[in-house]
Amino acid sequence: MADSKQHIHLIDLNDHPVSWWNKLLSLAHEIRLNPTLYSKACEGKIMGTLFYEPSTRTQMSFQTAMLRLGGTIIGFDNPATSSVAKGENLKDTTKIVSGYADIMVMRHPVEGSVKAAALTAECPVINAGDGGHLHPTQTLTDLFTLKEEKGTLKGLKIGFCGDLKNGRTVHSLIKAMLCFKGTEFVLISTPALSLPAYIKDMLSAAGVPFREADKLEDAISDLDVLYMTRIQQERFASREEYLAQKGAYILDKAKMDKAKPDMIVLHPLPRVDEIAIEVDDDPRAMYFEQAKYGMYIRMALIYTILRGDGTASKLIKGREHKHTVCSNPACITHKETYLPHYFEGSGDILTCEYCDNRTLI
Ligand code: NCD
Repeated sequence: MADSKQHIHLIDLNDHPVSWWNKLLSLAHEIRLNPTLYSKACEGKIMGTLFYEPSTRTQMSFQTAMLRLGGTIIGFDNPATSSVAKGENLKDTTKIVSGYADIMVMRHPVEGSVKAAALTAECPVINAGDGGHLHPTQTLTDLFTLKEEKGTLKGLKIGFCGDLKNGRTVHSLIKAMLCFKGTEFVLISTPALSLPAYIKDMLSAAGVPFREADKLEDAISDLDVLYMTRIQQERFASREEYLAQKGAYILDKAKMDKAKPDMIVLHPLPRVDEIAIEVDDDPRAMYFEQAKYGMYIRMALIYTILRGDGTASKLIKGREHKHTVCSNPACITHKETYLPHYFEGSGDILTCEYCDNRTLI
């Protein structure tokens, strides 16, 4: 199962240089202004969308993006209606679909699953969310929204609020924003929902200023961007643990009154109760526009990858450690047991190449 085929995959945005992200952002801007110029750009091409987990925006914006580029789509949005229900493994399903399609978009509940699929895929693979791990195309959506609405990606003070532990959109966006000068973070969560240690370590290593806060009303006043998130019910071990966190943060008009006049509110959506409906009418509420920006950046992404514009992905940077088991129980290597155990690093601490968690050996 060597990473032999050279495709441009998007598994983690940080696998690609910032110059590539910037090209995508410029192209998305151009497409947004002149969509008809691109209406035949992907004619004759097929995109496969494999959604093993629920989705509205990501799936439909990808599908719309491909249709608006003149291409067509195949796929499933419920694995129960595919051969997955008969017990087919991830490798077989994704290998077959990637042989039918020119580009494959995949969402799956298990961390590292999309990279695992890319290892044997016959076409480029895009990660549309792998469990609580990463969500790079939501990050492109967020970057595009910031660029269009704030005019820059530099010097922004961003507050992340809610489920920072399980929110894959948070993990991906923090990793991306590390690459822009002058970024500052305020991490607003309960102790139980705080950011995973490996990402906090990345912040420290990059020398990016961040502080943790537990009250949104105290943290909101000097933010340029407030990124609200849903408490990720489906990632909790038990309903009791979820209920203990539910409703921990609610953004309402009173809190918005304390924010800067040019702060913008983002949310990857879906919202449950963390933003009161009354906030929707505030001109600083940008989450519905954000969802629309997602379609343009996905058009830019599909077009760019199908043109082969970018560097082929090197999926495995380390090597196989046959007898080492990833310490993260949510990692795909525990579910799809045929997968080689690839780790980066050496010595006592190895980093799993699928889920990025560290394992002490
Ligand atoms: C997010 C996701 O799926 O991670 N939604 C999205 O893609 N727009 C956020 C969430 O589900 O809370």
